[in-house]
Amino acid sequence: MQEAMKIPGYTYGTQAVERSPVTLGDFELMKKSALFGAEDIQALRLSAEVLKDQVEAVLDVWYGFVASNPHLLASFSALSDGKPLAEYLGGVRKRFGQWILDTARAEYDQRWLDYQHEIGMRHHRTKKNRTDGAASTSHVPFRDLFALIFPSRSH
Ligand code: HEM
Repeated sequence: MQEAMKIPGYTYGTQAVERSPVTLGDFELMKKSALFGAEDIQALRLSAEVLKDQVEAVLDVWYGFVASNPHLLASFSALSDGKPLAEYLGGVRKRFGQWILDTARAEYDQRWLDYQHEIGMRHHRTKKNRTDGAASTSHVPFRDLFALIFPSRSH
């Protein structure tokens, strides 16, 4: 975690992160809705060992997917001319890599919950672009957000 805190804009567990309006009790109910159980948690934790040396490879697949879909790449592109913002993509990539490891560790405590809320806001008008000072689109469309759950499940 100490190494992770050196990643620009990665604020997991810090004062900069507000408390999630979703409670841990709500999260238990969300797990029910998604049929997410103890076996899934066990499988995730097992994946942590494998994933820790594969983060860059996973990122290559994900970034390749986003880059090859112009409607997704738009969320990482300049408002002015529609061109991809390399610094924005690069800054987010580091935090996304850390999120892969955090997700595999599956520590579903309050700090984890609060940071998931922060990540959500970083896709929303409230906080998108702020962390990297990017002059990009105002928000990630929700229709793209939830659709992306499906390719993640099949990879
Ligand atoms: C299930 C779906 C998704 C998950 C789990 C996810 C996860 C993440 C994570 C972990 C970060 C880094 C958060 C941080 O700053 O620490 C991030 C940032 C970002 N993601 Fe996603 N993402 C999803 C869907 C999408 C989609 C569909 C797009 C559209 C291309 C997208 C665009 C972005 C952008 C633009 C950022 C940077 C936000 C900022 O300005 O801070 N994400 N995402």
